[in-house]
Amino acid sequence: MNLLIMGLPGAGKGTQATKIVEKFGVAHISTGDMFRAAMANQTEMGLLAKSYIDRGDLVPDEVTNGIVKERLSQKDIAEKGFLLDGYPRTIEQAYALDETLANLGIKLDGVINIDVDPSCLLERLSGRIINRKTGESFHKVFNPPVDYNEEDYYQREDDKPESVQRRLEVNIAQGEPILEHYRKAGLVTDIEGNQEIADVFADVEKAIVTLK
Ligand code: AP5
Ligand code: MG
Repeated sequence: MNLLIMGLPGAGKGTQATKIVEKFGVAHISTGDMFRAAMANQTEMGLLAKSYIDRGDLVPDEVTNGIVKERLSQKDIAEKGFLLDGYPRTIEQAYALDETLANLGIKLDGVINIDVDPSCLLERLSGRIINRKTGESFHKVFNPPVDYNEEDYYQREDDKPESVQRRLEVNIAQGEPILEHYRKAGLVTDIEGNQEIADVFADVEKAIVTLK
């Protein structure tokens, strides 16, 4: 099963991706997570990415296309399938992905689009906390960890209000042509994202089972 999950910043891509991976066993490929890992390791690519991410801008396409192509070429992908989260983010990335998949002989099975009202996203992002050990996202109010302990969690740099505003602008502008591209191919399932996390997942699961 080869899937994309799309949605605005804070729509719940990562939250749903964790559940999809657990249920369907596909490899989770999150470009945001890959950049954050590179930033934490202070690699050359990480330092470059940081200069864009912290202000809420997109990392240049050639960098992002390169890391995705490399990851999709690894052996486990052909065996397990994948869930791409946060990629493609520009129409040029969508074309690059088409080419990469064609070269690898991989077919995309579906695109899960989590549709949310943008007005709820600031609250979701400002309350998000990430587990230092597992990298899993929670929310102080909407999805609190069972044994919450402040020092085990951190907030993302780009979840500050200035960056969030910019991220929303950039992603709203870039997102529509990408969805259109996949709608034309009949690949998109829209999911109502303004529901409880478990109810969103119930709809996501139904959509994926239908694809199978
Ligand atoms: P990335 O890490 O992909 O961030 P994003 O797209 O902005 O999305 P988020 O991870 O912030 O949100 P999410 O949809 O995963 O929501 P989550 O599940 O955590 O990218 C970060 C940056 O990296 C980009 O800005 C860019 O600079 C760079 N980058 C990444 N990919 C790139 C690319 N392809 N090209 C160029 N640059 C790229 O949920 C959010 C919060 O809401 C959590 O607290 C969660 O608990 C809560 N929540 C989730 N679902 C619900 C619900 N149903 N109800 C209530 N609360 C909920
Ligand atoms: Mg995410």
